[in-house]
Amino acid sequence: MSLLLATLAVPLLLAPPQEPVRPARPRAGLGGGFPAAGPRAGGWHHGDNLVCSDCHTTHNSLHGQPMRYDGVAEPADNLLRMGSPTELCLYCHDGTDPAAPDVLEPVSYVADPAGGWFTGGAGVPNDHGHDLRPASPLQAPGSSESFSLECSSCHDVHGNSNYRNLLFDPPGSADNGNVVVVVDELVSANGSNPAQVYVPANLKDRSGMGEFCNSCHDNFHGKTAGEEGGASRPWLRHPNEETIFGKDHADYSHWAGPITNRVRVETPTDDIVPSSDDRVTCLSCHKAHGSGRVDSLIYADGLRRLSTCQQCHNQ
Ligand code: HEC
Ligand code: HEC
Ligand code: HEC
Ligand code: HEC
Ligand code: HEC
Ligand code: HEC
Repeated sequence: MSLLLATLAVPLLLAPPQEPVRPARPRAGLGGGFPAAGPRAGGWHHGDNLVCSDCHTTHNSLHGQPMRYDGVAEPADNLLRMGSPTELCLYCHDGTDPAAPDVLEPVSYVADPAGGWFTGGAGVPNDHGHDLRPASPLQAPGSSESFSLECSSCHDVHGNSNYRNLLFDPPGSADNGNVVVVVDELVSANGSNPAQVYVPANLKDRSGMGEFCNSCHDNFHGKTAGEEGGASRPWLRHPNEETIFGKDHADYSHWAGPITNRVRVETPTDDIVPSSDDRVTCLSCHKAHGSGRVDSLIYADGLRRLSTCQQCHNQ
């Protein structure tokens, strides 16, 4: 724990005098059990684990050769090692670098990556998840705003204290305040262990993901009762951050029984799932990047949408 606190004290974005060398020391989650809830470092690409030369070159020249990953001699904006932020991220995160978690379909390093995967890279339109760098900005369902999504639309490229370096204010409009996303992990990134880190079994969702998604999809986790409905029911849209226990229209006794491929829920006050504090959240039904299914939906049994619903509503 003291290690973790020491890490948090490192000021963000302060370039260290000397670049750290990968792999750096492991962070957080060293002992048994999940660390106590609270703000914490995002993991890789942050603090001591932010390696400038992963992404930047100073002159795009080493021994007279270009340093861009694509070998282009022309330096790129912001001294990046690829022509755009998303192409840069995908240079490592497309499955070719075994140290970096693959986010592009098909993913094979684990069976069920926590974030799912994008169907196609930049400019490939699809209804199976978020579109990266579309030809023109697309409207976010539930909002009037349109976006041309890059990796950097959701992740802070220099890291922050949020889970997975998620931006505090993704649309940048400041109308959401600072969204703090808290998810605890048993094993944190050390620069080479993606198969241990980016899997649901490594995670305990605590709070904030609904608000994060909602910062672009405004009405889907209502800012007012008129948009989502209210606990007094009927709901107008599926509730989020709503406990399963003690609800007339959710089946806690079924949820508390033996369920295979249990979907993710937030467990804000204890480490135990199933238990009475479990709350349904966007990621109970959706993968953040995409799932290969329409609307990024999770089919708990791998075959049917209904198998997800039945876990909490045994109809
Ligand atoms: C994971 C990739 C990545 C790493 C590692 C990284 N950067 Fe960046 N950096 C970017 C990207 C992408 C941009 C462009 C941001 C944009 O277009 O929104 C950027 C922009 C910048 C900028 C200009 C904009 C700004 O924020 O001031 C500076 C300066 C910078 N980086 C310095 C650094 C330093 C110093 C390090 C190491 C301590 C570092 N970066 C590590 C990806 C990275
Ligand atoms: C930075 C803004 C932004 C954030 C944050 C965001 N989204 Fe989206 N989302 C969009 C946009 C724009 C679209 C429409 C274009 C597309 O499909 O990418 C979209 C589309 C979707 C779709 C429909 C996908 C399809 O292909 O039909 C789903 C489902 C979705 N988002 C869920 C989520 C979830 C869950 C989260 C939180 C983990 C989230 N979004 C966070 C901007 C955002
Ligand atoms: C719409 C927002 C959004 C966009 C766009 C986005 N991410 Fe993510 N990403 C997330 C969220 C939310 C998570 C956490 C998923 C979880 O734990 O369920 C995540 C998780 C990750 C992870 C951890 C691996 C995993 O499966 O959980 C990596 C690596 C990552 N993103 C990289 C990227 C890269 C690279 C891009 C661009 C190609 C990108 N992300 C674009 C929201 C986004
Ligand atoms: C030089 C290769 C490289 C590049 C370029 C790169 N990454 Fe990564 N990324 C990694 C590695 C390695 C990890 C850590 C894997 C581990 O230790 O399990 C990682 C981890 C991550 C994570 C998870 C952090 C956590 O919470 O553990 C996110 C999110 C992420 N990268 C996003 C990005 C984004 C966004 C970009 C582009 C701006 C980018 N990466 C560019 C190699 C790279
Ligand atoms: C109980 C499961 C469930 C939860 C929880 C859930 N969704 Fe959905 N979502 C769905 C289903 C099913 C669809 C397919 C369309 C429909 O039925 O309305 C969908 C569709 C979507 C779409 C695409 C809409 C379109 O017009 O294409 C977006 C965006 C979306 N959800 C975002 C979110 C966000 C953001 C959250 C959390 C605040 C969330 N969802 C929580 C099940 C869920
Ligand atoms: C992780 C648990 C969970 C999952 C999975 C889930 N729900 Fe729910 N659902 C809830 C909770 C909790 C409520 C709130 C019940 C209440 O207030 O009585 C709810 C409410 C509802 C309601 C509104 C009932 C009312 O009182 O107005 C409907 C309809 C519904 N869910 C349908 C679905 C469908 C369809 C799916 C699958 C796409 C699904 N749910 C998946 C937990 C879940």
